[in-house]
This record gives sequence, C-alpha cells and structure tokens, in this order.
Amino acid sequence: MERTLVLVKPDGVQRGLIGEVIARLERRGLRLVAAKFMQVSREFAETHYAIHKGKPFYDGLISYIISAPVMAMVWEGPNAVAAVRQTMGATRPTEAAPGSIRHDFALEVGRNLTHASDTVENGEKEVALWFKQEELVDWKREVDRWVFEK
Ligand code: RTP
Ligand code: MG
Repeated sequence: MERTLVLVKPDGVQRGLIGEVIARLERRGLRLVAAKFMQVSREFAETHYAIHKGKPFYDGLISYIISAPVMAMVWEGPNAVAAVRQTMGATRPTEAAPGSIRHDFALEVGRNLTHASDTVENGEKEVALWFKQEELVDWKREVDRWVFEK
C-alpha cells in the first residue's frame, strides 16, 4: 500500500487545524499509519528540506518549520501520494483548488499549513526519515473493503 508523509506545519498547529487536516484525510478514506507531535530541530529541518537548499525561500522555510511544533503523520492508501497532494492543494494557496485545505485555510505560500510527499519515492524516503520502523502501525479497518477496491 502506498504511503506518504504528512506534516501539519507550525501555522496549522498554532491555528488549531490539526484536527481539520486529520478529519479530511480520514474522510477521504486514507488510513493512518503513524503520528507524532514534535518540535523539529534546525538540523533535522535542514535534512528534510535538503532539496531546497540554495533556493531564495530556503532560510525562511527552515525558520518557519522550526518556529513551533509540527504534527507528523504517515497515511496510506491506493495512490496515497497523489490523493493527499490533491487534498492539500497547490503549493501557492491562491492557486489551490477550491475545497482543498490550502484554498480553504491559507493565503500565502510561506504559510501554507501542510507538507505532503511529492512522489512515491520521496514518500518512502520521508517516512523512513521521520519514523522508525516500529512506529509504523500495520492494521486493517473493517471499512477497508468499502474504500479500497483490492
Ligand atoms: P511541501 O513540500 O511543504 O509539501 O510543499 P510543496 O511540495 O507543495 O512545495 P515545495 O516546492 O516542496 O516547497 C516547500 C515549501 O517551501 C515553501 N515555499 N516557499 N516563497 C516561495 O516561493 C516558496 N516556495 C516554496 C512552501 O512552504 C512550500 O510548501
Ligand atoms: Mg515539497
């Protein structure tokens, strides 16, 4: 089953939107695999966002992600990476589809509330970076057969 890393970023935590993000992912049919509420260190943030090092927004992005705690989660399901990106909406909230989280709750790219892995490969890498194997819960729901075709 495909897995993706989701973060409710510091602005989402401060604004009391953890529950809103979880509710939307649950309602979509995705299955929660792991979750932890944590303060990210600068060093860890730099590892997570290494791909963006050198970009003009990099320093602001690192300060943003360590400015308050984050809610880190792993969600799984068929096409989980694409489904979660769609539920979050485009990176720039003013380009996010109506009904998406970033459309409904955000205005600026530097305060866009959530992170979600952008490819299946990066999803696997990010899940391994943020969670130990024993923190990932392997479970089934009674409703799975009504949400997942196979
Ligand atoms: P994320 O990684 O947080 O899920 O967001 P994303 O894939 O939609 O966007 P990405 O290109 O990976 O950028 C990571 C985060 O950096 C901030 N950003 N600021 N000021 C800017 O032009 C700019 N561009 C990106 C955003 O917080 C974005 O989510
Ligand atoms: Mg990204």
